Amino acid sequence: MALERTLSIIKPDAVGKNVIGAIYNRFESTGLRIVAAKMMHLSKEQAEGFYAEHKERPFFGALVEFMTSGPIMVSVLEGENAVLRHREIMGATNPSEALAGTLRADYAETIDENAVHGSDAVESAAREIAYFFSDEEICSRTR
Ligand code: TYD
Ligand code: MG
Repeated sequence: MALERTLSIIKPDAVGKNVIGAIYNRFESTGLRIVAAKMMHLSKEQAEGFYAEHKERPFFGALVEFMTSGPIMVSVLEGENAVLRHREIMGATNPSEALAGTLRADYAETIDENAVHGSDAVESAAREIAYFFSDEEICSRTR
């Protein structure tokens, strides 16, 4: 099993619902460890850069507008197979397809405002973590 890191974002809708602690509890109770965290309110440029892979998609403008609409909680999670396990805890992108007990089933209303972000692979996790955190800001027990 591989010790991995992944990037988690609690999006503006979930921060607005006051469920940061409830979501952190899901991570911690399944053995994922929070090794870095910061609350941010993204600029348009920051949101566009983070989601650059989607810039040709029809939902890009709405996604950037949503992600800049309020504060977000950005965290690095660490654990065995953290990338896939975090995706499983989040549930499907579309909350109407998300399994019961997943974060998106519990906290998201629509595909465009779906409560949480998680990296989709080890490579994208490394890029996304570096987008928000310096090495010094990551407080892993493995350092
Ligand atoms: P994507 O990377 O496909 O999903 P995930 O967040 O599960 O990795 O898409 C990024 C975000 O873009 C998604 O969380 C919400 C938004 N989005 C829409 O608004 N409409 C869509 O049809 C899709 C696919 C995504
Ligand atoms: Mg994605």
